[in-house]
Amino acid sequence: MTPILNTLINKETNNTPIWLMRQAGRYLPEFREIRKLNPNFINLCLNKNLSSEITLQPLKRFSLDAAIIFSDILMVPYGLNQEVKFKKNFGPALGILNLIEMSQIDEIDFLEKLYPVYKSIKKVSNSSLTKNKDIIGFVGAPWTLLVYMINKHSPKKKLVKDFFKDNFLINRILVILEKFLKVHIEHQIKNGATVIQIFDSWAGLLDKKDLPSYVYVPTLNLVNYIKSLNVPVICFPKDIKDYKIFCEIVKPDAVNIDFHIDPSKILKDVKIPIQGGLDPKILLSDKENLKKETLKYLNIFKDHPYIFNLGHGVLPETEPNMVEYLVKTVKDN
Ligand code: CP3
Repeated sequence: MTPILNTLINKETNNTPIWLMRQAGRYLPEFREIRKLNPNFINLCLNKNLSSEITLQPLKRFSLDAAIIFSDILMVPYGLNQEVKFKKNFGPALGILNLIEMSQIDEIDFLEKLYPVYKSIKKVSNSSLTKNKDIIGFVGAPWTLLVYMINKHSPKKKLVKDFFKDNFLINRILVILEKFLKVHIEHQIKNGATVIQIFDSWAGLLDKKDLPSYVYVPTLNLVNYIKSLNVPVICFPKDIKDYKIFCEIVKPDAVNIDFHIDPSKILKDVKIPIQGGLDPKILLSDKENLKKETLKYLNIFKDHPYIFNLGHGVLPETEPNMVEYLVKTVKDN
């Protein structure tokens, strides 16, 4: 069994496995080189040779325990025919949302658009570099995708004023998303994904009263679906204040914590395997500090099933040798 599955399924507490969110990305010069020649990010994700190569880049450098497929959560709105662009120094920009058109999309149209993503997963899973390692497939949670689809760009600290005005629209999109997220998950698994992570990057924007309708229920539907396929699922409801309630209701196989969470407190609150936590900014400091902070997490979770990861993605300004040092520190302890 792979080290990550051993933690998730057997609740192993020795030999903490490690992978990193955004481990394939802009901090790697070999990624930037490919990116420079491929200004259209969506097309890069749809290039099965390049996206599989990018997925494998960090595995060539570091002893990570998983590959995370080089794609994006916004490939699903793209598959649903909403325009998605990535603008330099701005982030994602989505086009108008045509509900009537979106309601008519069928599974075949959607799969045809996203076919190269699955091909890329297949290539990664056939590579000798992923032997005895996991392949993390992923989706955005319905809430976070809804935010991008209605808001059209990253909301930073708050949503556009009339976000909740059109209840009919919101409910229709949630129904469509549930259907196609399941399709997207199913095909990632069929082509080699061994674990699924659900990213709910904007869970922290919601008031407590809105969490059941927009986070707990839609995420639970996906979690139950993934479990029915016998694949473990990790949830990352970023910046949600109460991870304990989330875990009790949604019951994923593991939960990724963000860097605002006190790891000692979460250890008492949460009974399932835990992943992540380290502030990605620590990788911008020095080796001594990185070692101290890494050992802090390893020590707190030494008797709890724990997968080492960060509290959000690797930052673009990170030095690859700091990532190397982090992986080595986790492996040596
Ligand atoms: O290495 C990996 O983690 C795998 C690939 C991956 C990407 N995006 C590649 C990417 C994954 C898992 C994601 C998830 C994703 N995408 C999330 C959830 C995690 C999170 O960060 O909260 C979200 C919210 C998105 C949407 C998105 N995609 C944004 C906001 C941006 C622009 C800002 C940014 O952080 O870069 C992207 C673009 C993006 N996705 C890049 C990469 C490598 C950068 C593209 C570039 O080269 O310009």
